[in-house]
Amino acid sequence: MRRYPAVATLGPKSHADVVSDVFATAHPRYDLLNRLLSFRRDVGWRAFAAERMRLPPAGKLLDVATGTADLAIAAARRWPGARVTGIDTAETMLREGRRKVTRGGLSGRIELQRGDALAIPFPAGSFDAAAVAFGMRNFPDRPGALREMARVTAPGGRVLVLEMTFAPARAFRAPYGVYLRRILPFLARLLSPNPAAYAYLADSIMRFPGPEAFSEIMRRAGLAAVEHHALTFGAAYLHVGRVPAVRESSPPPNGTPEGT
Ligand SMILES: C[S@@+](CC[C@H](N)C(=O)[O-])C[C@H]1O[C@@H](n2cnc3c(N)ncnc32)[C@H](O)[C@@H]1O
Repeated sequence: MRRYPAVATLGPKSHADVVSDVFATAHPRYDLLNRLLSFRRDVGWRAFAAERMRLPPAGKLLDVATGTADLAIAAARRWPGARVTGIDTAETMLREGRRKVTRGGLSGRIELQRGDALAIPFPAGSFDAAAVAFGMRNFPDRPGALREMARVTAPGGRVLVLEMTFAPARAFRAPYGVYLRRILPFLARLLSPNPAAYAYLADSIMRFPGPEAFSEIMRRAGLAAVEHHALTFGAAYLHVGRVPAVRESSPPPNGTPEGT
């Protein structure tokens, strides 16, 4: 069985290597495990994020780290005039995503392509909104990814980050900790082709900044009117920020030390 180093010990390069290995092997049962391990809450969380995109008629959305395209599909269904572009570094995940897009009859409105969140392959202001679901945790440079999402979003548009976070309501904290540390890795050993990926998952959730800290990281990346919404007692958060109508002078080049 594979083993990955603890997230706290990873530098930017080794973090990217671990993430690449995790998602190169995750695709065969990725969707099934997502549903099971989140008690199907992931579907509702993405629907909530899609609702908050507030896309204009015929709006354009960028879904960063689209994986198997669940957020792209939820957004396209919620906003029937919208067109969605999904990018991801893992071709295996994209292949599965393309199959789902075709099965859902959405090939005319959703396009998936290779692309890195840290160097998004589109010009400034190309989209009405940019979103990422369960991807931010995996980026070695989160402020850099946020600045890229803000860059490709038109002034006034939204940047949305949906992420699992270990900042639950007090009464939920102990059981959620046991679930992440013990039960999730145990279930993954039974069900996943790469159980170590789920040990990484639990570790990366527990190390993700709390909602206030992440809101501050978004502000420092140049986003305005930042707000966050707790989902399922704080097991996940949706963060939403706006690209200022008049862009301020560039945000600090390296954001915060949290980037690694
Ligand atoms: C947990 S999956 C989330 C997939 C999907 N957004 C969802 O809602 O299920 C994380 C995805 O992030 C992708 N990823 C990781 N690092 C990336 C990067 N630097 N740029 C783009 N995608 C990346 C992985 O390949 C993987 O598909």
